[in-house]
Amino acid sequence: APSDPDLVERARAAKARLGSKVFILGHHYQRDEVIEFADVTGDSFKLARDAAAAPDAEYIVFCGVHFMAESADILTSDRQQVILPDLAAGCSMADMATAEQVAECWDVLTEAGVADTVVPVSYMNSSADIKAFTGRHGGTICTSSNARRALEWAFSKGEKVLFLPDQHLGRNTAVREMGFSLEDCVVYNPHKPGGGLTAEELRAAKMILWRGHCSVHGRFSLDSVEDVRARIPGVNVLVHPECKHEVVSAADHVGSTEHIIKMLDEAPAGSSWAIGTELNLVRRLAKAHPDKTIVFLDRTVCFCSTMNRIDLPHLVWALESLADGKPVNRIQVDAETEHFAKLALEQMLALP
Ligand code: 13P
Ligand code: SF4
Repeated sequence: APSDPDLVERARAAKARLGSKVFILGHHYQRDEVIEFADVTGDSFKLARDAAAAPDAEYIVFCGVHFMAESADILTSDRQQVILPDLAAGCSMADMATAEQVAECWDVLTEAGVADTVVPVSYMNSSADIKAFTGRHGGTICTSSNARRALEWAFSKGEKVLFLPDQHLGRNTAVREMGFSLEDCVVYNPHKPGGGLTAEELRAAKMILWRGHCSVHGRFSLDSVEDVRARIPGVNVLVHPECKHEVVSAADHVGSTEHIIKMLDEAPAGSSWAIGTELNLVRRLAKAHPDKTIVFLDRTVCFCSTMNRIDLPHLVWALESLADGKPVNRIQVDAETEHFAKLALEQMLALP
């Protein structure tokens, strides 16, 4: 539906009043009505870099989810305030690994005698606490666009990787891109004593995958791939690496959101594509490429509900509050967590 013209006008006016004091970042999964006001758009890796590259803005308004705003706060100067227009915009995947659970996991690894050989690699989609755990133990953060480089770096430092919290990204990267076998990977279940693994299993494993997943990408199935191939002859199936291993294995191409955008930019006119990622992005891509057939990989609708919480009314409210000099919804990571999380984030930014 078209945006309420009154709200559009208010957003414009508030942004104009703020001028260079505000910098608005928009993740690719955000609604069109929000993307319209973003100074830059990107995947989580690009936005982490872009946040750090706007040193003059007093306010960074992050249109994305909580863990992204935390990362922006960690990477920007203390003088800058990071604002999340709706505090309820969390991420179900990030919530699947808590600081207590991860500390307990490290105890399990220590008891099994393997902790010394393990390097943690945590997906950007994790809380600042998990990033701090990663930094404390000499690990790195990764995103879907640099997971392979992060894993290669980690395996140059240790024998095993503890990959948090997305088991699919970890497995897909290790098996598809690095030659590991499925048997090299074990899944640590935080809801079972000892993670549901024996000490022998932990000793034999190369990749210890946290049992987390994305509720949006986890919904694509092998059936959705077979169904779309039957419906659209010659279709190219392009999916995000947060999808299950069987889906990624059946797809023609796999890539982060930036990669998906680039592939479609470069695709020839007349080609057909079924995309396995969040629906706001797929719809926008279909609109941007009227010369190509671009469909959503599944027949059901599949937005990220927490990304969608950031809507025009919340953005207007946040911008008007800032313009009135009364900042709301500031995301601020405490100094100790920030220190260690920053080590892990800077390690990511320094990856070759
Ligand atoms: P990227 O932005 O790194 O592709 O990750 C997708 C995602 O799920 C963000 O929440
Ligand atoms: Fe989290 Fe998945 Fe939504 Fe990304 S798409 S914010 S990983 S639930």
